Amino acid sequence: MTKENKDQIIIRTVSDMQTYARAARLRGESIGLVPTMGALHAGHLSLVRRARAENGKAIVSVFANPMQFDDPGDLARYPATLDADARAAFGAGADAIFAPGEREMYPEGFSTFVDMTGISDRLCGASRPSHFRGVLTVVTKLFGICAPDRAYFGEKDAQQLAIVKKMASELCLNVEIIGCPTVREADGLAMSSRNARLGADERISARCLFRALNEGKAIFESGEADPGVLASHIRSILEAEPRARIDYVGIVDPLTFETAPSVRAGNLIALAVYIGDTRLVDNTKL
Ligand code: PAF
Repeated sequence: MTKENKDQIIIRTVSDMQTYARAARLRGESIGLVPTMGALHAGHLSLVRRARAENGKAIVSVFANPMQFDDPGDLARYPATLDADARAAFGAGADAIFAPGEREMYPEGFSTFVDMTGISDRLCGASRPSHFRGVLTVVTKLFGICAPDRAYFGEKDAQQLAIVKKMASELCLNVEIIGCPTVREADGLAMSSRNARLGADERISARCLFRALNEGKAIFESGEADPGVLASHIRSILEAEPRARIDYVGIVDPLTFETAPSVRAGNLIALAVYIGDTRLVDNTKL
């Protein structure tokens, strides 16, 4: 363990993290976990503040999980900024940062996976076939290591949030999964670690996601309930932006991520769009 100051600590090994969590629980303190892949931004910090407010101990995990990247180039481009992340997380109230190396999480010969059928094959799961298996495996492992009472995830990744909730419930993991609102830049772009990769022109182009979500919502509110018609309006807004390439536009049930024959209040508009080489996701509830 590395001591930052009296109360704040960076922990590098599974066994040290388990010892820390066990001691907190023995003292009767609840544990809130914020799982991250680092490159922390204001969205992550809102989760840390909530974990701090609702628990005796707030733990932030920082691990860019190779198992959930289908493209090794995407993983290589993922920013590694542990010092800045630690300062930001401690500033937002974290008590401990769990920052294991890859071999610590996946020792030689590691061969156990957590997977889900149905919901995890749709939208992001269709574009990135082993992505959710990687997410579910690492999240299960983080729950085993950090023993949280509550775990906090952003609503920006709505499908991930739904899948983690379903897994925690179906496997009786005894952890409450809490979804927290998407934090946005002033022009509406959802905060994401990937935004840092956008060039200046791409950053302006990226506004098309929020614009498409808002216009889709307005069209629904004016009475359009046909998912095909609504999706093609949204696609045309995105296609008007020359730097945007659509991965998917989904109008889906928020639990199953299936498209209903008729759009209803409570459905999600979910988007994944490449701006240049950077894949961004966002969603809004109707
Ligand atoms: O949302 C993320 O940053 C990751 O998918 C998570 C939940 C930390 C698992 O690696």
